[in-house]
Amino acid sequence: MREGSATQAYLEIKQSGVLSGTVSVSGAKNAALAILPALVMTNGCSRLKNLPASADVVHMLQLLEELGASVTFDASAGLADIDTSTIKRWRVSPELMRKMRASVFVLGPLLSRFGRAELSMPGGCVIGARPINYHLENLARMGVEFDQSGDVLCAHLVCPCPQRLVLEYPSVGATINLICAALSISGQTQIVNAALEPEVLDLVAVLQKMGAAIQATVPATIEVVGGRELQPVEHRVMPDRLEVGVLLLAAAMSGGSIKLPDAPAYSLDLFLRKLEDMGHLITRGNDGMGVTLQATKVPRAVSFTTRPYPGFPTDLQAPMMAAQCIADGTCAVEETVFENRLVHVRELQKMGAQITCKGSKAIVTGVEELYGANVIASDIRASSALVLAALVARGRTSMTGIHHWRRGYDGLEGKLCQLGAQIVLTESVLSSVAEDARPQSERSY
Ligand code: EPZ
Repeated sequence: MREGSATQAYLEIKQSGVLSGTVSVSGAKNAALAILPALVMTNGCSRLKNLPASADVVHMLQLLEELGASVTFDASAGLADIDTSTIKRWRVSPELMRKMRASVFVLGPLLSRFGRAELSMPGGCVIGARPINYHLENLARMGVEFDQSGDVLCAHLVCPCPQRLVLEYPSVGATINLICAALSISGQTQIVNAALEPEVLDLVAVLQKMGAAIQATVPATIEVVGGRELQPVEHRVMPDRLEVGVLLLAAAMSGGSIKLPDAPAYSLDLFLRKLEDMGHLITRGNDGMGVTLQATKVPRAVSFTTRPYPGFPTDLQAPMMAAQCIADGTCAVEETVFENRLVHVRELQKMGAQITCKGSKAIVTGVEELYGANVIASDIRASSALVLAALVARGRTSMTGIHHWRRGYDGLEGKLCQLGAQIVLTESVLSSVAEDARPQSERSY
């Protein structure tokens, strides 16, 4: 066996048996990353509760401090007080932009507060090129002029005018930036074909609390009447439906049962329906909050295609694919939101998964058993897929690339351990490759 050679942090995960219990749900990272930049449009002290202490959220708090805000964050309590009255800069450093592409969500709020913004282009990542053309072309329609030199973008709201904007695609980021820019423009701006993800609607709820005249209407339109002064706000960030998905799948894949009293079941209709199609017993709370799962012993493979909300969430595609790897039968998993979001397939194949890919479609045939291996997380959601697979795989798995795991989840390994998982966050030399638990006949060196 080849010896590992690098000193690096990794998750050491062992086959963990049945996972069962009751756990709480952290605040939604993607709601927090939309809400925090919006505070730039207020002058005073806001308080956010249920704020997850994931790395991306900490980076966004650092960005607000870089602009001049004063921030106190009690990570264990999930409580942040943010005073934006001292914000005086409209330039985001390239270093912070490089750390987190969601920093681009501050573009609209800075245009709203200062009429100008300077930031570096966010660039792509492993799952796709992540362009921001929908943001820029629609901001231009609203009266923003851009000057780009290298990858530094300077934006200036020169002649603000309310518009009926029609998005080519319901982009979450573009919707967020256009809403925030519109809030400083008197008159009604409409964003047709807007993203209506629950995290976007949590932002809308915050803006309404701030005093904004904003509402979602049909057909998938967000209407903003700008020009009002926005007040500081107190808000409890919505629970993270994506963390809920991983926790439910951990119980489902291990034949266990789980209770999540504060899960936003209302925001996961299609995902929960697919778990029921697999044969798992799902019970939803009365007011759309709370969900329990009792796993079936023989889960059926189900096909699914990712779509903008309320379609199947692209951020649950990788974890749900992990569940299909040990389900009974064959299914098709199609990714339509990002152009390269099947990178986790290669790592799952290392663990014995039977998956073939053609373009953005993966055909998964369930196997009796997966095997522990050394795997690398390529993005946030790939990391949770690999953790789920490792929890049921024979032997041990070492997962590197855990900065992705830390970026997206707030202590999720601790919650999984509460359910009975054997996961250790290790910061040392990566030991020799994980015990290769495959039968000799199936090993290919
Ligand atoms: C947000 O990214 C989320 N990130 C993503 O979660 C999520 O997967 C995505 O929305 C879709 O739901 C945050 O909220 C911080 P998009 P965003 O603009 O806003 C293309 C995670 O793991 N597009 O809806 O970047 C784009 O390339 C992350 O938590 C353009 O072509 O997503 C993609 O293919 C990953 N031009 C598609 O649209 C544009 O101007 C959807 O992108 C904008 C987007």
